[in-house]
Amino acid sequence: MDKNITTPHGTVIIRQAKESDAQAYRELRLEALRSHPDAFSADYAVNEQRPMTFWAERMRSLGDENTMFFAVHEIDLIGMCGIFRGDSPKTRHSASIVSVHVKSGWRGLRIADELIATCIEWARQHEIKIVKLGVNAANASAIKCYERCGFTAYGTEPQAMYVHGTMYDELLMARSV
Ligand SMILES: CC(C)(COP(=O)(O)OP(=O)(O)OC[C@H]1O[C@@H](n2cnc3c(N)ncnc32)[C@H](O)[C@@H]1OP(=O)(O)O)[C@@H](O)C(=O)NCCC(=O)NCCS
Repeated sequence: MDKNITTPHGTVIIRQAKESDAQAYRELRLEALRSHPDAFSADYAVNEQRPMTFWAERMRSLGDENTMFFAVHEIDLIGMCGIFRGDSPKTRHSASIVSVHVKSGWRGLRIADELIATCIEWARQHEIKIVKLGVNAANASAIKCYERCGFTAYGTEPQAMYVHGTMYDELLMARSV
């Protein structure tokens, strides 16, 4: 299932998360929340306080209901993307993509496209019919990336986030699997 991508900075492997990723996952996630407060509803200060057991449990709880993929260069996690499916018999056909992030030195290489394509493939293998996501309506490069990956907008959640004195709408996007 691992996928190798050749980039100008070297080979990047897209692979599923595992328990031993907990520490590196914490660092990557906190970097994402700290550097891009308007891209995620999760908050850096809240997450920075969480004990290591929280991050370990996140990795341990991955399975057939939700999972995460990392982009890895040598031993470094340089990108990530999560997907979780509905937990009711009535919503199991649907999944959400979350936590999409690529480290700044690795942007512009279509790594996010590969992470999302891998999530879509996972969804297909789990007989999920539709994948949805929400993105800050002002986040033009993320929206472009999702459109390239086949997502189209189906609505807007007004005033979904209030960050450093600015209110942001959330664009709701979906694609069938
Ligand atoms: C959105 C994101 C995941 C896209 O990842 P990616 O793999 O770099 O995607 P792309 O290859 O399409 O490149 C994204 C943009 O970076 C630009 N770029 C090129 N080289 C770059 C570089 N060295 N540094 C920064 N950006 C660069 C690309 O031109 C592209 O811009 P465009 O979309 O206006 O054309 C990434 O930008 C990111 O992690 N952003 C911060 C977190 C975030 O917004 N997450 C989405 C939450 S919904």
